[in-house]
Amino acid sequence: MDIKLITGDINKIKADAVIVSIFEDAEGSELEKDLDKALAGAVAELRKKKEIRGKASELTVIHSLGKINAAKAAILGLGKKKELDAARLRSAVADACRGLQRKNNVELALALPETSLSVSDIGRVTAEAAYLGSYSYRRHLTKEAEYGDIKSLVVLSETKLDKDEFDRGARKGEITAQAIRLARDMANEPSNHMAPEDMADIAEKVGRESGVKVEVLDRKDMEKLGMGGLLGVSQASFEKHPPKLIIMRYKGGDGESWDLALVGKGLTFDTGGISIKPADKMEDMKFDMSGGAAAIAAMSAIGKLKLKINVIAAVPATENMPGGGAYKPGDVLKMFTGKTVEVISTDAEGRLILADALGYLVKEAKPRAIIDMATLTGACVIALGGITTAAITNNQPLCDKVIRAGSVAGERIWQLPAYDEYKEQYKSDYADIKNVGGRPAGTITAGLFLGEFVGETPWVHLDIAGTAYGEREKGHLTKGGSGVPVATLVSLAEMLAGE
Ligand code: BES
Ligand code: MN
Ligand code: ZN
Repeated sequence: MDIKLITGDINKIKADAVIVSIFEDAEGSELEKDLDKALAGAVAELRKKKEIRGKASELTVIHSLGKINAAKAAILGLGKKKELDAARLRSAVADACRGLQRKNNVELALALPETSLSVSDIGRVTAEAAYLGSYSYRRHLTKEAEYGDIKSLVVLSETKLDKDEFDRGARKGEITAQAIRLARDMANEPSNHMAPEDMADIAEKVGRESGVKVEVLDRKDMEKLGMGGLLGVSQASFEKHPPKLIIMRYKGGDGESWDLALVGKGLTFDTGGISIKPADKMEDMKFDMSGGAAAIAAMSAIGKLKLKINVIAAVPATENMPGGGAYKPGDVLKMFTGKTVEVISTDAEGRLILADALGYLVKEAKPRAIIDMATLTGACVIALGGITTAAITNNQPLCDKVIRAGSVAGERIWQLPAYDEYKEQYKSDYADIKNVGGRPAGTITAGLFLGEFVGETPWVHLDIAGTAYGEREKGHLTKGGSGVPVATLVSLAEMLAGE
């Protein structure tokens, strides 16, 4: 996609559609006035009749009947002027891009009024909006699409803005959005096409394209290392889809030490195992590798952006299946760190595979900070729905940074309490701890369980069970995999790299 900034005359823009954005509560921009003049007062008339109000994401398409060079003018509402931030702009532009693309408008222009956003933010946000709003997952549809990909987006500004700064922002936006699209593709892929070995293949491809070193540990390595959690969960899949532990290393910083470690749950299908799940909505459990996809995708963006930081990632990838060889409730597993865990439910498998990956990275890499992301608990969906990711931490300053990185990136994160008293809930009579802490505060006890494997390392756990995939199209979010929290991770890496 070609994304560029120009200042100029709205009448001369060649495009399938020119999107003219307006505020709900401010006078029209010069660009809007020029359009209105060319269309013989049609815009002012519709504004007066309240058919066009300028509410956020409201889109009104007017045929230009040859009066301007673009075939159509699409009036896009941005809401109230004071409320416009990067997230609102991205959401509105993404909605407009999607709506227009569906009618096969693939060469687009976007006229922007003066805003308080920086030029580089405008570049970043418009690029993200165009790439993410127009995303669709059609890999297994044999029928051809009724519309093409968006070819170009020309941003037309009222005042003269710095083109280089715009381009830098747009490049960042494009790289981040491509990473989010990769995470969405991986998550949307059904488990017969996204098994542990497929995740490993994609990680290796990402490594080649982004300057990231990739190592894949297999079952034999896990046995040598004593990864009882990952081995236990994957036991029923040893023959057909054995587990992989994907390790990715990116060195962009000066020293040898690791500034940041990422761990993502790569559970390619969660049946619940012997503690089997009900059939209703079980198909959604193909998304249970979204955290792992986010880790791989974030590494691809961090590498392509050449951030001055050293980042290591680990993705434990496996299925969770019932079967003759499956692990069972009551089993006691010896984890990588040496801690023993009594399995109460084989469906609380995410924490078992993450515990080994966290323990391994903490020991091997001694990172300055470690973040894990996982579709970990149904309780999180009940607590926060599809809007907000939950956070649990052992280090408040790091958690504050992650939440801030999320808000810069347009992803919402809410911290849950992590008081020691909750730990009582997962005490076991048969092992050091058990893998279920009962129904109360299920998201907190799951998070604290992971905290048992990171020692003193500053750590934040992100439960993305509600935010990793969704049912509706809204703004930059589309149906299915959302790519959350790739944008947060990239923005955090930028912050830590001092950008
Ligand atoms: N992958 C699920 C969590 C999940 C549920 C994600 C629904 C998205 C939507 C996880 O492995 C799981 O099964 N968790 C159990 C834990 C329980 C047995 C303690 C849960 O939340 O029910
Ligand atoms: Mn489960
Ligand atoms: Zn799961």
